[in-house]
Amino acid sequence: MTVAHDDRPIGIFDSGIGGLTVASVIRQALPSERLLYFGDTAHMPYGQRHLDEVRKFSFGIVDALRRKHCKMVVIACNTASAAALSALREAHPGYLFVGMEPAVKPAVEHTRTGTVGVIATTATFQSELYASVVERFAQDVQVLHQPCPGLVKQIEAGELDTPLTEEMLRGWLQPMLDKHIDALVLGCTHYPIVRPLIERIVGPGVRIVDPAPAIARQVQRLLESYALTSMPTAKGSLTCWTSGEPSTFHVLLERLGLGSTEVRAAQWSGDVLNLP
Ligand code: DGL
Repeated sequence: MTVAHDDRPIGIFDSGIGGLTVASVIRQALPSERLLYFGDTAHMPYGQRHLDEVRKFSFGIVDALRRKHCKMVVIACNTASAAALSALREAHPGYLFVGMEPAVKPAVEHTRTGTVGVIATTATFQSELYASVVERFAQDVQVLHQPCPGLVKQIEAGELDTPLTEEMLRGWLQPMLDKHIDALVLGCTHYPIVRPLIERIVGPGVRIVDPAPAIARQVQRLLESYALTSMPTAKGSLTCWTSGEPSTFHVLLERLGLGSTEVRAAQWSGDVLNLP
């Protein structure tokens, strides 16, 4: 029996470098897949914008990735998923999307104190998606949510372990620690980049939940069930575009062990995104 394969790429996007935390896990889990990544650095941070505006950007990005013949799009951004995932599914019937949502469920399963924390962008907390996650998974548990305005910008600026970033994080996390959280959900794909700092602040008694591995498993499941996996012998790759400055990407790619990745400049013209 011959098994069907599909060598088209997988599209992945975020407002900037955050989604690379998801792309790198997908790259490890599915080494024969070609990944096309777009970071919309020119419009970053999404989390301080109106959800309608983020939805408009997301539609432009998905159109560009589909013009690149992507077989699936992974929205490696909680804010864009909250703003656009259901509208994108409606506008592209039959097309495969994987989106992010704050991983409240594993945190609730883990807690012994009955109190868990979620950090995410302001826009994510304002979304219906977040409300539905809490309603579905956190019936008998107290969920404390804390937006972190300014943190994404610090991370994009490479301020990963500076006194200011630490002070900002302590200001957000200490009140949750005072209320005895024992699990903390990273509800923004940028935040795993400062995970070592977060771990230092919360200490070993708090389980940190990063949904990236679960997202990679979901991508794999979908590819397999729709017979869309690449030839196992294919040489996978990661190619990045940014609407901002490519050098910020190189620093993080280096840290993620993906230093040889090509990063190209992309341009918006009106609502149309060009990925040259
Ligand atoms: N990385 C994004 C997220 O997961 C968005 C961050 C931002 O641009 O504010 O929400």
